[in-house]
Amino acid sequence: MSDSPKRKPLRSERWFAPDTMRASAHRQRVLAMGYRRQDFMGRPVIAIVNTWSDLSPCHAHLRERAEAVKRGVLLAGGFPVELPALSLGEVMVKPTTMLYRNLLAMETEELLRSHPVDSAVLIGGCDKTTPGLLMGAITMGLPAIFLPAGPMISGHWRGARLGVGTHTRKYWDELRAQKITPAEWHEIEAGIARSPGTCMTMGTASTMTAVAEALGFVLPGGSSIPAMDADHVRLAEETGSRAVAMVHEELTPARLMTREAVENALVVDAALAGSTNAPIHLIALARRANVPLALDDFDAVARRVPPLANVMPSGEGLMQDFFEAGGLPALMTRIASQLHLECPTVSGRSLGDNIADAKVWNDDLIRPLDRPISTQPSLAVLHGNLAPEGCVIKPSAASAALMRHRGRAVVFRDINDLEARIDRDDLDADADSVLVLQNAGPRGGPGMPEWGNLPIPKKLLAQGVRDMVRISDARMSGTHYGTCVVHVAPESAVGGPLALVQTGDEILLDVGARRLELCVDDDELARRRAAWQAPTLASGLGYVTLYREHVNQAPEGCDFDFLAGRVPVPEPEIH
Ligand code: FES
Repeated sequence: MSDSPKRKPLRSERWFAPDTMRASAHRQRVLAMGYRRQDFMGRPVIAIVNTWSDLSPCHAHLRERAEAVKRGVLLAGGFPVELPALSLGEVMVKPTTMLYRNLLAMETEELLRSHPVDSAVLIGGCDKTTPGLLMGAITMGLPAIFLPAGPMISGHWRGARLGVGTHTRKYWDELRAQKITPAEWHEIEAGIARSPGTCMTMGTASTMTAVAEALGFVLPGGSSIPAMDADHVRLAEETGSRAVAMVHEELTPARLMTREAVENALVVDAALAGSTNAPIHLIALARRANVPLALDDFDAVARRVPPLANVMPSGEGLMQDFFEAGGLPALMTRIASQLHLECPTVSGRSLGDNIADAKVWNDDLIRPLDRPISTQPSLAVLHGNLAPEGCVIKPSAASAALMRHRGRAVVFRDINDLEARIDRDDLDADADSVLVLQNAGPRGGPGMPEWGNLPIPKKLLAQGVRDMVRISDARMSGTHYGTCVVHVAPESAVGGPLALVQTGDEILLDVGARRLELCVDDDELARRRAAWQAPTLASGLGYVTLYREHVNQAPEGCDFDFLAGRVPVPEPEIH
C-alpha cells in the first residue's frame, strides 16, 4: 500500500475520467485537437477567460498575454484552455459598457460552470471588464486570479504630458472656446493615447484593477505595471502558474472576498482618489459574496484616508509615473496601519507579506499621509431631499469654491435635450447656474452612461467659465474632473425626486454637510409628483428589456435583482 495521500479528484475529471461513452466523447474531442492524453488527463484544466477583441483597444495585446499565461500554466503542470468573452471596449460600445457589465458577469459565470475547468485566469482591465469578470467568478466559486491589462504608456503633446480622458475633456473645452485650433486638436488626438493598455489616468480602469489587487485577486503590484512593460509579460506567466497552484490550494473567491478584504479595497480606493464608479462596482462585488457594504461606508473611509496618489484627474502624474514610484504595494505601505494585512491573496501569501519589501521611490507621486494631494476627500456621499438614497461627488477633482453652492437649476430632460440646447446662445444659464440632467440612470439611460460630466455651455466657456455644479443620475468617467454630482438615487426614470426638478428651482449643494437639497416646498413637490408621468422607455431588444426590468439602483451596485447575493446554482449534470 502506498503512504502517499490520495489526491482529491479534479472538477475537470468529471468530464474526462469516467469510463462512460459521454466521457469518452469528451476525451475524443480534446484528442481531436492534437493533444496527447497525458496533456489533459489528471492535470488541472485552467480557463483563460480573455476579453480581447479588435474593437477593444485597451485589450489589443491580450492575445499575446494569453500565450504567456498558457506558458505559465504549462510550466506549472496545468492544461490551459482559452475561452473568449465579451470584450467591452469602453469608448466603442454604445450606449455604454455599463449596460453590459452584468452580461459579462453572467457570461463569465456560465463559461466557468459549463466547461471542464478547475480554475480561471480572468484577463481584462478596461473599465467594466474587471468587475464583470470578478462578479461572475465570485458567483461561480472556482479558484480565480485576475490579470489586469495594464495602463497604456504616457501621452504627450508639445512637451506636455497628456492623460486620456482628463485632457480629452480639458482640450475639447479649449477647442469649443476657440483657444486651440482644429489642427492642434488633431495633434492632441494622435498624442493622447499611444499604445495598447487601459487609460493611464486614475480612471475607472486603474481604480478597479487596484481594487482587485486590494481584494487579493491580483499578484503583488500587478495592477500598476504598464501594458507594454516586459514586467507585464512576466506577470502574465506567473499568473498562469499561480492559477494551477490555486487549484491544489483550493483558493476560491470565497476565501478572498471577506468583509476585511472589502475594507482594504475601500482604503486603497480612497488613497488612490479612485473613480466615482468604484462604489457601484465594489458594492456589486461585495453583494455577490454576501459581504455587507453600504454607500456610506465609502464616505466614512474617505473622511479618514486622504488622497495620496498624485495621478490625474485629482493629481498631476500618470500611471507609468505611479508604477515607477513603487506602484500599489508602495502606496499600501503608506496606509498599512489601516489595512487588514492578514488577508489572503492569490500569491498564496498574505497582503502584509506581499507588501513587506515595498518602498516608495518618489514622495511626490505617492505622498505621505501628512502631505496629501488635496485637503478634500476623494469621495463624498451626499443625501437630501434630492437624493434620498444617496449620490456621490469627487471633491478632490472638483472646484473648492463650489463645495458650498446655491444656484438656479437649468434642467435637461434627457441627453438629446442636452445636446440640442447646451450650446445655444439663448440658453438661460450663467456661471452660478446648476446644470441638471434627468433620465440618465440605470433604467433611464439605459445603463447609466457616463454623461454626468455635462459640458459647460459654449457661451460660458467663452466667458472663461471652466467649472459649474452639475447634477445627474448618470455616472461620469473616472478620468474626468469637475463639480459633478452623480449617481443620484433613486433615478429620475423611476420617479426619484430628480424627476421633479424644474428650470428656475434653487438647489443647494453643501459637500461639507454632505447635503443636496432641492429648495422647493413640500406641497409644490407633492403637486409635481402627482402630475409626474414616467418616461416612455424604448424596449423591444431582448437584453435591454431584461436589463431595465431587473437592474437595481446605484447604491445597490446596479446588479440584477435575481443575481445579487444569491446562492450558486449546482454544478451541471453530466450525462
Ligand atoms: Fe479602456 Fe479607458 S477606455 S480603460
